[in-house]
Amino acid sequence: MTAIALRSLRKEYGGQIAIADLDLDIREGEFFTLLGPSGCGKTTLLRMIAGFNSIEAGTISFDGVVINDKPSAARNIGMVFQNYALFPQMTAAKNVAFGLQTRNIGKGESARRVEAALHSVHMDHLKDRLPGALSGGQQQRVALARALVISPALLLMDEPLSNLDAKLRVEMRDTIRQAQREAGITTVYVTHDQEEAMAVSDRIAVMNLGLVQQVGTPAEIYRNPANRFVAEFIGKTNLLERDALQRDGRLVVELGEGVTLDITEVVGKTTDGTMQISVRPEAVRAADSGIQAEVVDETFLGSHSQVRARLSSGETIEFLEFSHRASLWQRGDKVTLQLDTSMLTFFDAEDGVSVMRGASK
Ligand SMILES: Nc1ncnc2c1ncn2[C@@H]1O[C@H](COP(=O)(O)OP(=O)(O)O)[C@@H](O)[C@H]1O
Ligand SMILES: [Mg+2]
Repeated sequence: MTAIALRSLRKEYGGQIAIADLDLDIREGEFFTLLGPSGCGKTTLLRMIAGFNSIEAGTISFDGVVINDKPSAARNIGMVFQNYALFPQMTAAKNVAFGLQTRNIGKGESARRVEAALHSVHMDHLKDRLPGALSGGQQQRVALARALVISPALLLMDEPLSNLDAKLRVEMRDTIRQAQREAGITTVYVTHDQEEAMAVSDRIAVMNLGLVQQVGTPAEIYRNPANRFVAEFIGKTNLLERDALQRDGRLVVELGEGVTLDITEVVGKTTDGTMQISVRPEAVRAADSGIQAEVVDETFLGSHSQVRARLSSGETIEFLEFSHRASLWQRGDKVTLQLDTSMLTFFDAEDGVSVMRGASK
């Protein structure tokens, strides 16, 4: 198991900055995910850790030892890519065994480890198949077994589920999570899919434009997003813009129709000014009193419906309705909405940074 420390790390491609002054700590044995939109620098950073990319400034340490100049082959890393990268002429078992050939491991020991690796990804029964006779998901299981069989100090995965269909992705992410737990290998996982990241990770670094926006557990970044980008990227949210006002020594926000929120205790600094309020769909419910809205549409999604309603301010707010009925709301229906204030996050409207008490970076 390996702990990784990245300090003031920088990567440029021909003068263009891809990673700017990045600090990150990845703990021993944890499942750590780099999450962000396409082009934000996830693959670049993963390749730096793997030793495939040059480093323009800063350091990468494994267990406290700087490894900037250590060649990739000497870093003891297992890698899984989006496109499986199996040898087509070798059976699943031979593909997995390949990683051990360069390691001077006896035949019996090798066979035992290949078997265990295939077992951990539920591929025992297909070990003699060629990749061409395996589905995408099965090929990716073999690729994962091949990465695990060498007992790497570090497992790196770059969008390993991107080529699979939705149902397989969910199945496969459970396998990945389970195999990682069993092996206890420090894992850095890259994805642009926030739901996938939430499902598999111990902690997540949310990235944008080559910068880390926030590091935390899935619950921390969902419930206490450091800024507006994180709030909008992780899950769904409604953003309302309101002025914060000083009133009788309290800080308040008027939502509309006489509904006032006292945010004195919630907000860390007593600035007034314009705020953006992140309202998660599950923080909104139809009630007898609250703010007035008019239903725009309802989308039935089986376990729940997604309802959009327009406030008198003109803003649209989306909320969830758990119901056994197919449809509750018609377009044009009047609805009164109540917000659970304990589930709101407040951002400075200008820079989009959280002003919550105890906001994390
Ligand atoms: N080999 C390369 N040469 C030049 N620019 C690159 C190269 N690889 C990536 N980039 C640029 O670096 C940025 C980050 O890319 P990448 O790390 O692949 O993002 P992600 O994996 O998050 O989608 C992008 O702007 C991309 O165009
Ligand atoms: Mg990428």
